[in-house]
Amino acid sequence: RKKVTLPTISAMHTRQEKITMLTAHDFPSAHIADTSGIDIVLVGDSLAMVALGYADTSEVTLEDMLLHCRSVARGAQSAFIVGDLPMGSYEISPEQALSSAIRMVKEGRVQGVKMEGGEEMAPIIEKVTKAGIPVLAHVGLTPQRQNALGGFRVQGKNTASALRVLADALTVQQAGAFAVVLEAVPPPVATLITSKLRIPTIGIGAGAGCSGQVLVQVDMLGNFPPGRFLPKFVKKYGDVWGEAKRAIESYREEVKGGVYPGVEHGYAMPEKEFEEFRR
Ligand code: KIV
Ligand code: NA
Repeated sequence: RKKVTLPTISAMHTRQEKITMLTAHDFPSAHIADTSGIDIVLVGDSLAMVALGYADTSEVTLEDMLLHCRSVARGAQSAFIVGDLPMGSYEISPEQALSSAIRMVKEGRVQGVKMEGGEEMAPIIEKVTKAGIPVLAHVGLTPQRQNALGGFRVQGKNTASALRVLADALTVQQAGAFAVVLEAVPPPVATLITSKLRIPTIGIGAGAGCSGQVLVQVDMLGNFPPGRFLPKFVKKYGDVWGEAKRAIESYREEVKGGVYPGVEHGYAMPEKEFEEFRR
């Protein structure tokens, strides 16, 4: 497969082909997303919960992201790779954001960065895109701002809130974002916003009217321990956790029962050599 670039994404958008985006947080999850034909691999800061066991994304550092981005970059040869700028690495100033974005490209080996926020982020998005680093914006529900939003709440549910999301999307487009993630927005609102933008919208919990979709890989694979809260918009396409548990339990039972390893798992040694060794 040829490397996915910004022109590839833009051509998909022009011919109204849906853009597929999926998260990855390490080499294997990146490799499987890439070889399954996913267009954009996102190293989301959701890795805080799905890979590092944190309760939310707030403790993730730029250094954490760089390590995960590098391993994803080694696994995804063809997909366009976008890395999330973690909380605290870009909000302070356009200079801070650019410095973090440059590290994501040079050390994290990603092709673009994602940052949460709307109108207030315009100067920051402009600074980063003008330096030649593609920016994926993220409006609607912005998880890094959960404390200000009062939790993980649907955005754009009333007229004023829907106008806010629309204004945010138009502003990040104007500032130079190559696409915008719309998270947890009622589908009709997301569809209307999509129709008003030149750049593609990537929906998560925003309905089928977006230009593309994104999901967290472990969520759609069903590769998480029981008890993880799944938002209504997630579709579980597999039961990878169940399969892993079955396999690990079989291994444990076979070792306890002396079934594994079998003869076929051992290395051969000439009888004569062994006899001599035993003496
Ligand atoms: O961190 C993440 O995985 C994300 C996507 C769900 C958009 O931001
Ligand atoms: Na994120």
